Formats: sequence, C-alpha cells, structure tokens
Amino acid sequence: MTRGSFVVFEGIDGCGKSSQARRVAELRSAKFVFEPGDSALGAELRRWLLDAATPMTPVTESLMMLADRSHHVATVIEPALAAGTSVAADRFYASTLAYQGYGRGVDLADLEAATDLAIGTCRPDLTVLIDIDPETARARGARRVEDRFESADAHFHDRVRAGYLEMAERDPGHWFVVDGRGPFEEVAGVIDARLDDLPW
Ligand code: TYD
Repeated sequence: MTRGSFVVFEGIDGCGKSSQARRVAELRSAKFVFEPGDSALGAELRRWLLDAATPMTPVTESLMMLADRSHHVATVIEPALAAGTSVAADRFYASTLAYQGYGRGVDLADLEAATDLAIGTCRPDLTVLIDIDPETARARGARRVEDRFESADAHFHDRVRAGYLEMAERDPGHWFVVDGRGPFEEVAGVIDARLDDLPW
C-alpha cells in the first residue's frame, strides 16, 4: 500500500488557507483535516484554547495545542496516510512554532522537542505558506467577537508571519511560499502548479 501525501496549509489568521486546503482536498480526493479541534477531544480543547476570557500561560497554551495535535495524528492523520489516503491539513506543527514560539515567546528548541514527542515521524511532505501582511488579512475578515489570538497585541501577527517566513526559508525542500494577496483563483493556480509534483 502506497502511503498518502501529506500537505499542510499555514499562514496567519485571514490568509485564506482554510479555503485553499478544502479546495485542494476536494480536487485531489484527499481528506481535509484541521487544527485545533478536529476530534471530539480536540473540540473540547479548542473551546478552551480560543476562549479569550480564560487566561492561560503561553506554555499551557502550547501544551494544549500539542495535546490536540498528538491525538489528531494518532486517531485521524496517521491512519488515513497509512491507508493510502492523502491528507490536506488546515494548520499543523508549524502553527505552534509560529504562534506560541515566535508569537508568544515560548522557547523554540523546547517546542521542537515537544513536537517530536507529539507527532513522531508524521511529518508533512510539503507545507504551503500563504503569506500575507496582517493588515490585509484583518481587513478581509472582521469578526464580531475576537478570539484569544485575534485579540492579541498589534505586533503579534507580525511576529507570527516573520516566524513562518523564517521556517520556510530554512527548509525550502519542504515549504512553498505563495503570495496570498491576489484573488482566490490566482492563488489557487500557483498552489496547484506546485502540488502537481506530488503523488496523489
Ligand atoms: P484556526 O481554526 O485555523 O483559525 P482561523 O481560521 O481563524 O485561522 O486556528 C485558530 C487559532 O488558533 C488561530 O488564531 C491560530 C491559533 N493556533 C495557534 O496559536 N497554535 C497552533 O498550534 C494552532 C494549530 C492554532
């Protein structure tokens, strides 16, 4: 049985990654997954994680994201890949490095070690970073109630974005950066041209 391809979509809130991940999953007959919250246990964790009224330390936040991820890999992602089904994910381990590491200041080496514990060898074949400046992203999707991350300080999303770009630059074989400012169809075309190189 050939293992499925594992492609992850990353970027700051409002970059358009969720729509692109869903589109690619449909186009390539892959399984769409997301984090945090893509299981019964994960939905409970997500509720607490996004609740701006529940203060928690950045380390607590990291460990809850990683608990969600570990469970997600074990019960959803790895079984699909092992059965030959490709997976298109809306966020994965790089979100924790970008948001909790670069964004909140949790030690990156510690987060990487915890990530190894949480996901083992289940690594993406490719991570697509939809890059966009926080101002454009924010202008796209004004929500009525801001969650914990949307209500973070003004430079938080700048740090998250810079973190993503640094990770992509360090490992170009596993990352693909696409400019997220264009129209949906244009961004989709750039992504699809790169994804054609993978076995589906
Ligand atoms: P998501 O559901 O992708 O929200 P959105 O569609 O608005 O981008 O993610 C919810 C929030 O959780 C988002 O602000 C990013 C944050 N997040 C982290 O901080 N660390 C993580 O590891 C993950 C997976 C998400």
